[in-house]
Amino acid sequence: MLSTLTPQPADALLALIKLYAADPRADKIDLGVGVYRTDTGATPVFAAIKAAEQKLVDGQTSKSYLGPEGDMGFVHALMPYVFGAANPTMDGRIEGMQTPGGTGGVRVAVALAKRAGAPKIWMGTPSWPNHAQIFADVGLELKAFAHSTKDGEVDMDALRAAIAAADAGDAILLHGCCHNPSGIDYSEAQWDEIAALVAEAKLLPVLDLAYQGLGQGMEADAYGLRRVLAAVPEALIAYSCDKNFGMYRDRVGAVYAMVSDPAQLNAVLSHGYALARAAWSMPPDHGAAAVRLILEDPALVKLWLDELDTMRTRMRQVRTRLAEAGMAGSVNMVPLGSQNGLFSMLPLSGEQILKLREDHAIYMAGSGRINVAGLTMGNIDKFIAAVAAVSA
Ligand code: LMR
Repeated sequence: MLSTLTPQPADALLALIKLYAADPRADKIDLGVGVYRTDTGATPVFAAIKAAEQKLVDGQTSKSYLGPEGDMGFVHALMPYVFGAANPTMDGRIEGMQTPGGTGGVRVAVALAKRAGAPKIWMGTPSWPNHAQIFADVGLELKAFAHSTKDGEVDMDALRAAIAAADAGDAILLHGCCHNPSGIDYSEAQWDEIAALVAEAKLLPVLDLAYQGLGQGMEADAYGLRRVLAAVPEALIAYSCDKNFGMYRDRVGAVYAMVSDPAQLNAVLSHGYALARAAWSMPPDHGAAAVRLILEDPALVKLWLDELDTMRTRMRQVRTRLAEAGMAGSVNMVPLGSQNGLFSMLPLSGEQILKLREDHAIYMAGSGRINVAGLTMGNIDKFIAAVAAVSA
């Protein structure tokens, strides 16, 4: 039977990691997978994580099983940051569980939406390619609409038309901040409108918050999510700590459900536990335990937030520098200055992207997405000149 299986294409983004690693050119530039890099190109472990890991090693007395919900101290400690310190449970209407990374959170959220009867899910595209793959895997029909216009603005008309065409009970996936792959986020006024429209259309929002703190700051990056939650009776939230705590390979995430009546939470979560048990039984502990130890210690919280500020400031500097370049060949770099987070899209053809790789050792996703954190003050001029050369 196994001989009947035909090869599947490797995940293009993950394949790029290996291609880059195999390139011997010393001046190669990695703008592929979404990891933060310092101005020297490193992805160091946060000092706050190092300190928390030391505490963990010294203090952990057992590695016995926790359960499908994972570390609930971690799940609860995150809530004031996500949902606001004033009312982090929305009067007892929100509860969550730990998941392996934000991907695990999206997986459970989307599967819960399906189990709750959502027949289809609306999403602005392009999006993170794994979103559509997860929807297909859980059997939720994707209804796509344009996320942005050619000028690098949010396409509000497409979003309004999609919501108008959706049926009550459909789900809609919204990126909380730092849109992946475009970096084009909703303004506060746009979020206000979206929250009202989603509520009026009786859609089930699935909010994916994978980059909190990397856009405008921890509070500002939660604006849209909180606005939507204030407007609707029910929602699902997928959260990732992989970027804002630099935990990538440790897979630290959570999924939260907001219901209209706190009495419904147990039933909803019981489905989450069943989904987790059937997929991964329980999430890996280490990373979430380290994040919990940070969040329980005000001095480590300060250290972590300072590190996050440094990352955000550096990415802003890169974006400002790109925007200052104006036109690079036929590519207008100006919109990149006002976009958020790790990613932006360049309007390059597949051929031009290949040329960047082969002739200039610059690695980026086939979609034209770049990770701006891969650019440093040492390589940014080379990058701009290369884009100009291939797109002239
Ligand atoms: C990315 O989009 O680069 C990240 O979210 C990593 C991933 O899992 O794809």
